[in-house]
Amino acid sequence: MARAANALLLFGATGDLSRRMLLPSLYRLDADGLLPADLVIVATARSEMDEAAFRETADTALHQFVDAAQLEPAAVERFIGRLRYVAVDASDPSQFATLAEAVGPRTGDMAIFLSTAPQLFEPTIAGLSAAGLAGEGVRIGLEKPLGTDLASSRVINDAVAAVFPEGRTYRIDHYLGKETVQNLLALRFGNGLFEPQWNAMGIDHVQITVAETVGLEGRVGFYDGAGALRDMVQNHMLQLLALVAMEPPAQFDATAVRDEKVKIFRSLRRIGPNEAATHTVTGQYGAGAVSGAVVPGYAEELGRPSGTETFVAIKAHVDNWRWKGVPFYLRTGKRLPARHSEIFIQFKGVPHSIFASKGAVVQPNKLVIRLQPEETIRLLVMAKKPGLDRDGIRLREVPLDLGMADAFADTRRRIAYERLLLDLIEGDPTLFVRRDEVEAQWEWIDGIRAGWEANGMEPRPYAAGTWGPSAAIGLTERDGVTWHD
Ligand code: BG6
Repeated sequence: MARAANALLLFGATGDLSRRMLLPSLYRLDADGLLPADLVIVATARSEMDEAAFRETADTALHQFVDAAQLEPAAVERFIGRLRYVAVDASDPSQFATLAEAVGPRTGDMAIFLSTAPQLFEPTIAGLSAAGLAGEGVRIGLEKPLGTDLASSRVINDAVAAVFPEGRTYRIDHYLGKETVQNLLALRFGNGLFEPQWNAMGIDHVQITVAETVGLEGRVGFYDGAGALRDMVQNHMLQLLALVAMEPPAQFDATAVRDEKVKIFRSLRRIGPNEAATHTVTGQYGAGAVSGAVVPGYAEELGRPSGTETFVAIKAHVDNWRWKGVPFYLRTGKRLPARHSEIFIQFKGVPHSIFASKGAVVQPNKLVIRLQPEETIRLLVMAKKPGLDRDGIRLREVPLDLGMADAFADTRRRIAYERLLLDLIEGDPTLFVRRDEVEAQWEWIDGIRAGWEANGMEPRPYAAGTWGPSAAIGLTERDGVTWHD
């Protein structure tokens, strides 16, 4: 059993993720009294600065990214007081000795979080090991991207495994820290109602959409080499798919949950050269308007033409007993009309409609699990429209709505990194991704990319502010399915 850490080493501490998410999340945990009282946070980055300068950077980040109402001066002071800073050039092993000095003798466990470019993972891990910062009681959190394909992810995983056993390796997929994503498990396995229908007999198809309104956002170096498939599908969307499709784990613990997820990744039907053109659609946004603002196209933002996809739609299948013949449609893209992420499940229709002779149409039930921006669970059911029905019965689809914000009005919603950082500090790996999962995910993704290459597929243009190229509509319409917007 892991003990809570009393030292947290944060690599990449001056980067964007750290300022926007990590430091604010750690502050909120601290303000709520959830961090171990003696936890020291040793921040590191390449920039030469002293502790006072880093503390100032952190203070500015808190004021920029934490709600003013949550900023209590005493809590801010206490949090800032926990911060140390050591400049480390990860490519120079000798610098890790200074880091070890800053950490001092450990009395408890230590958590390390690498939020750096993945090229730095290997030297950082070697440096940590040489400086005695990687032994028993030290766990390491790794931020994505963990490679760009199966081969490169194996190189990273091997380098990590040479120093940290799998049980002390915490790979982050921040979608798993989202409250509604965990709620999916509560919905499926905390209720007896859905599970008997949750299979090919009861479900017609599943749609998973992660739509974003943002564009490149200054992430040129990273995004242009990656694209939507590797940036969003390989990790977040496949994790969502696995949580929808997996068998009930025997326990809610790290081994049982991850054992079930990996079986799903391994059951994904391969999409290769013969299927890529019919089962996937890629797109790249051109100029257009999003939320009333005119925005440039991807290539304009980039300053050159590019073959990177900013949109991808996929028709996937899970080849196992439960899901035989049920399509899983996945869709994600940048510069779409709205920021919305949801899982949409369409059940099978009734076997026979007793209302057909009265002119009424019975629609199949649908379950919509909205992850963001608002967290809602909505079940669409048929109801009779009030009236005397003299010229036939009218049935209409009406929503049974569960707004999480209303149902839990007195509970503050925590962002994913609060949950994940606390789990890393306390040593609970359930919501982190295991090596076999990542590698099975990459294997499937590599097949799709090989298919694109073999077919010479290039992303189709779509105007910013639209739902991707029209071929994405064709992907589902061919099966008589409409995307749920
Ligand atoms: C990240 C991707 O992993 O997830 C980004 O690299 C994307 O491109 C982000 O914008 C989306 O996360 P969220 O939590 O805003 O849905």
